[in-house]
Amino acid sequence: MDKKRFYITTPIYYPSAKLHIGHAYCTTLTDIFARYKRLRGFECYFLTGADEHGQKIEKNAAAAGKSPQQFVDEIVEGFHKLWKLLDISNDDFIRTTQDRHVKVVQDIFSKMLAKGDIYLGKYKGWYCTPCESFWTDTQVGPDHICPDCGRPVQVAEEEAYFFKTQKYVDSLLKFYEENPKFLTPESRKNEMINTFIKPGLDDLCVSRTSFSWGIPIRENEKHVIYVWLDALTNYITALGYDSEHPELFNKFWQDPECETIHILGADITRFHAIYWPMFLESLGLRKPDRELIHGLLMMRNSKMSKSKGNVVDPYPLVERFGVDAVRYYLAREVTFGQDGSFTPEQFVERSNTDLANALGNLLNRTVSMINKYFGGVIPAYQGRLNSVDGELESVIQTSVKQYENLLDDLKITEAITAAMDIVNRANKYIDETTPWVLAKDPEKEKELASVMNHLATALFTAGMLLKPVLVTASDKLFAQLGLNPEEVSYEKVYDVTFLGGQTVNKGEQLSPRLDATIEVPFIQYLMAGNQ
Ligand code: MSP
Repeated sequence: MDKKRFYITTPIYYPSAKLHIGHAYCTTLTDIFARYKRLRGFECYFLTGADEHGQKIEKNAAAAGKSPQQFVDEIVEGFHKLWKLLDISNDDFIRTTQDRHVKVVQDIFSKMLAKGDIYLGKYKGWYCTPCESFWTDTQVGPDHICPDCGRPVQVAEEEAYFFKTQKYVDSLLKFYEENPKFLTPESRKNEMINTFIKPGLDDLCVSRTSFSWGIPIRENEKHVIYVWLDALTNYITALGYDSEHPELFNKFWQDPECETIHILGADITRFHAIYWPMFLESLGLRKPDRELIHGLLMMRNSKMSKSKGNVVDPYPLVERFGVDAVRYYLAREVTFGQDGSFTPEQFVERSNTDLANALGNLLNRTVSMINKYFGGVIPAYQGRLNSVDGELESVIQTSVKQYENLLDDLKITEAITAAMDIVNRANKYIDETTPWVLAKDPEKEKELASVMNHLATALFTAGMLLKPVLVTASDKLFAQLGLNPEEVSYEKVYDVTFLGGQTVNKGEQLSPRLDATIEVPFIQYLMAGNQ
């Protein structure tokens, strides 16, 4: 970790319908990463936003009897509400309909046109006349059917602008070679090369005339800029690229001291890994340092999507179970980079096993024992009195190291497991040291004090490591240990001796135990569309 600061982004989401738990997954992971970097003392700028143009939005708005702007305004209002509820700590929210974006995208287009990287040609595709839409081979499938209305489509042509990808292929391959950490997981690089680049990359269509809800091209007003050139550039327009205020852009994009990181789902890798670096090169700008690609959340073997109607709305889930349970589930249950599935049973089970039983009980028991045996004051560090003290301390120290190494590589799931290793080891430590037996023997007071001190340290360390995930529970845990959540610093995780003298406060349960017979059917009810 040799960079001074970080720029971290989510994809910008389409406001064509409400967001589902898959989108919440992506934003929550990004938020955890941003919070972790800040916790470690780094300056970090975190961007999310909305990708508001395109034919689908134009159509959905018309179907709802609204203007496209009115339609996206309402949906984006819902984005803000959801991110607030999930305690997402973004520094800015970009909307592609904002002037700061529109103007700069038009400039970018003009620059590329003037440079000869964009030319006017003909777009050939499958056209559905009643829907007035072009579709790709994959979208129409072998039967050549419109994915929207189910009617047959015909081959048609329209005038369109194209970006010359071939001009940049060699330098993209060189960039991959020289920057092995650019794509995570690394396997994505071979996928890009073998599936898209080697078979011959077509020039990318960057304009359309068949709909009007987009950014008009100044040089030819019947065209609007087609989606990816408009969408991808959000990452730099939000920072003030090409504006009167380029300070953030210089600091968080162009400065090599800043690590730029895009977090995105596997379905949009191609656009970020191939076209985005090409656009940037065309503009003479730095390329992103890293792209971290996560898997998709499925609904029992089938991809969750708005069009399939098998969507989990995160909003009622957070309202009922709290922000920590939902964030923890998302970060812990699905291994980063792999696909995962959301099931109500696993949700309830994960919350009960890890949060209510392992962490919540450890805190309850520890605070109760410190109250009972030491009048509520955490005893000072007594040294390593025996091998179990030593073992617990070394689990704490190793877990901290592992956690940092893992999270620096955005291995969130494994990093959480490392933090929970401390909790699990501490629970075992209670069974091994049997404090209730020590308490009966006045000669064992020092040992008992050591046990209480070690338990409090284990809890503090786990709470600090989990803080980017458990945005409310960690602070409650600190408060119960008599620490001021505002004042306690991350650096203390390296010091197993600092606790002692704090007065514990027995508070409410960190995370209530959920009754599966009630909560599983409740979530199933939500998933059936009853929200
Ligand atoms: N607007 C484009 C992105 C432009 S970025 C310059 C887009 N929007 S989207 O709303 O369809 O999806 C945004 C992100 O949400 C993608 O990274 C996508 O992978 C993610 N997800 C959508 N459904 C998802 C799941 N079921 N699971 C995990 N992530 C999901 O694409």
